[in-house]
Amino acid sequence: MAGRIPRQFIDTLIERSDIVEIVGTRVPLKKAGKEYTACCPFHDEKTPSFTISQAKQFYHCFGCGAHGNAVDFLMEYDRVGFIDAIEILSSLAGLEIPHEQFNHGGPDHRPLHQLLKTIGDWYRAQLRQSPTAIAYLKQRGLSGEISARFGLGHAPPGWDNLLRRFSGDERKLQALRDTGMIVEAEGKRYDRFRERIMFPIRDPRGRLIGFGGRLLGDGKPKYLNSPETPLFHKGRALYGLYEAHQALRHFDRLLVVEGYMDVVSLAQFGIDYAVATLGTAATPQHIELLFRHAPAICFCFDGDSAGRDAAWKALNNLLPLLKDGKEARFLFLPEGEDPDTLIRQEGRDAFEARVISAQPLSDYLFEHCAIGMDLHSADGQVRYAEQLRPLLDKLPAGLLRQMLYKRLDDLLGIQTPHPAGPRAQGTARRPGSRQNQPQGLNATRFAVALLLQNPRLGADPELATDWADSDIPGANLLLELLEQTREQPDISVAQLLERYRDTASEKTVRKLVAIPLGLPENADIAAELRGALQRLSDKARKARLRMRIRGGQAIRRE
Ligand code: GTP
Ligand code: MN
Repeated sequence: MAGRIPRQFIDTLIERSDIVEIVGTRVPLKKAGKEYTACCPFHDEKTPSFTISQAKQFYHCFGCGAHGNAVDFLMEYDRVGFIDAIEILSSLAGLEIPHEQFNHGGPDHRPLHQLLKTIGDWYRAQLRQSPTAIAYLKQRGLSGEISARFGLGHAPPGWDNLLRRFSGDERKLQALRDTGMIVEAEGKRYDRFRERIMFPIRDPRGRLIGFGGRLLGDGKPKYLNSPETPLFHKGRALYGLYEAHQALRHFDRLLVVEGYMDVVSLAQFGIDYAVATLGTAATPQHIELLFRHAPAICFCFDGDSAGRDAAWKALNNLLPLLKDGKEARFLFLPEGEDPDTLIRQEGRDAFEARVISAQPLSDYLFEHCAIGMDLHSADGQVRYAEQLRPLLDKLPAGLLRQMLYKRLDDLLGIQTPHPAGPRAQGTARRPGSRQNQPQGLNATRFAVALLLQNPRLGADPELATDWADSDIPGANLLLELLEQTREQPDISVAQLLERYRDTASEKTVRKLVAIPLGLPENADIAAELRGALQRLSDKARKARLRMRIRGGQAIRRE
């Protein structure tokens, strides 16, 4: 296969590509002198032994020996074949792979691309001659410059403009059919697009693959897209990706919106990294393509119920593709707004602030699953875990999946069985481990129960108390009990109970003093208490960290 692409083209391609950029969009890099280093993406390591030389356009891992150039990296990291790697580099570099020598072995689509280009040029010329079409674009607030950048055009009224233009040329007529530009029904033929603003749709390499057309006023259907053709596959096409690459060679993130107008409008306001799916929720192919071009994707949805449905679908398609190092966020717009209307109201900076602080996929996932669940009841918690588990299982094995399982554990205060986690191996119960904590009791209540039932335990000098100033529910009662039992280790259970009579805590104390803890006769209850307090201490530390993270992130969704 490699022989089909001229050596010289590959040389030029590598010269025009930058391996630091290619690797850098996929793996976090650090500059170290003349070189860049990273933790090797091809083996597990904690200290970086993966180095990239910009001068040599070469990477090498001293740990596992992986090495190569930009093409090798793409083949290894994106798990694509040689041809695909060349295609990715070509589209990033804006180069066209020489056609004569390049042949997938499939049918030759060049005449179809060529025909669409001719038609697109014609639509553009028609736009210049149509005052109504120009007035419509003006009224939508689009500048002449942005219309030109996206190659907007106008399909004039009339049933047979294209048909007449190409009449007599059987091959062109066949190409019109193959590209979906004419419709044949009941023995009649006519142009598919009439009296519409035309949005040319390109593949990542800039070749025309289809059109979207919008009515100039109200009516149905508001938008009309090219049908599925050998060139155009709705489930794969992303409107605006090529144009985004023309504006920005490199992006940290891509914003996925729902409409053509949104993409064009955002670009006019300086957000050049927006793309749109064409009337479908994001498919797995869309997502793969997006992640090939940026490490982070923000999905933007209208705040209506259709938007929420589309978001949930996108999430389901995203999960299996969220390899470590990839990030996905969800941005829900206020009801009744779309990116086009919103950016016109609030401007670029405010809109971009929304994008940057959009909800991380994990938060959206955890919140969505909690809808309608009573997380305070044991039953509700079990149902919650049951709903989340199969979704977490869709994630590729890696750090993210481990972290989210951990988050579920922490949330429920129990251990959710999960694969590949360190705690999943071996079921021996260490004294003080969380598994010994009875279901339905959180760490605070478990500790309170242990102390109430065994006041002597409070004398232990090794008990963690650095959770004391946290706002963990029940922390006050626990601290009080600890102080009492430390001062008076010989206090009896009955005495303790008495101290709580007619206090706000009485009910809780009465319940916990009698609750069965299910620990074996010979259980190390001192270790159990130490473990529970340690878990509280961890929890408080995490809460503090979360507060710091939240506080640092000044901009939140409304
Ligand atoms: P404007 O009304 O021009 O601002 O368009 P919009 O982008 O806000 O449109 P909307 O939110 O209604 O639709 C979003 C996307 O869904 C469009 O860009 C189209 O891709 C698609 N879409 C909308 N209406 C239709 C339709 O009637 N038919 C088809 N096939 N697709 C549509
Ligand atoms: Mn709109």
